[in-house]
Amino acid sequence: MKRFIYPSSIETARALTLHLIKLLNDEPEKVFHIAFSGGSTPALMFDVWANEYSNITPWERIKVWWVDERCVRPENSESNYGMMRMLLLDVVPIPHSNIFRIMGENKPADEAVRYSHLVRKNLPVENDMPVFDIVLLGAGTDGHTSSIFPGQEHLLTSSEVYEATYNPNSGQSRIALTGQPIINAEKVIFLIMGKEKADVVSEICMSGDTGPAAYVAHHAREVELFLDQSAAAKLK
Ligand code: 6PG
Repeated sequence: MKRFIYPSSIETARALTLHLIKLLNDEPEKVFHIAFSGGSTPALMFDVWANEYSNITPWERIKVWWVDERCVRPENSESNYGMMRMLLLDVVPIPHSNIFRIMGENKPADEAVRYSHLVRKNLPVENDMPVFDIVLLGAGTDGHTSSIFPGQEHLLTSSEVYEATYNPNSGQSRIALTGQPIINAEKVIFLIMGKEKADVVSEICMSGDTGPAAYVAHHAREVELFLDQSAAAKLK
């Protein structure tokens, strides 16, 4: 597991954006399938990407997928798609056909099946699971990642690509990328910022599957952590 730690959240957001652009530039012929998380943490990165690095990004080579979605309409302020669209996708010249949203307004169980098929159809498959080039994850203070919460560990070993689930704290329905396609990705990158995340960051870095985020961090092929100093405060 590689750790990259920066003094502030904006520097972390900039560093991760430039890192993604470098990965794209290192393989100029390749189309990248990237699964993005939602929640509040990536908002700064989407903003920085749109406003500072759009002109150096090969948008036509990025296929945008989602790690998870809240089961709301796209115009709802809780929508992960809606947030990324407003801050990034509507601002940059990415072809519309490169964007594959989870339809949060559909019936969750049906949408999980539809989206799983769409991913399987468009991505290479190995170990009977799709292979994303990059899965960008966040982590909650309770140790969840994607929308796999403590108590929902069955989703870590599910044979489905996406499943309908819920946030046990709010009861909100969610659709989540399960554990196996996350650990099957070429690269898993966690973006975690803020002092309230210091404990979960140290759990992820310690040995042991203490929660869903730690589990995927310990089982994935290649893991990178992008942290601000506050989130890294409890690391040795
Ligand atoms: C979501 C996510 C989720 C997120 C963590 C961290 O829809 O909420 O994709 O897994 O990454 O909950 O969220 P914050 O960045 O809001 O703390």
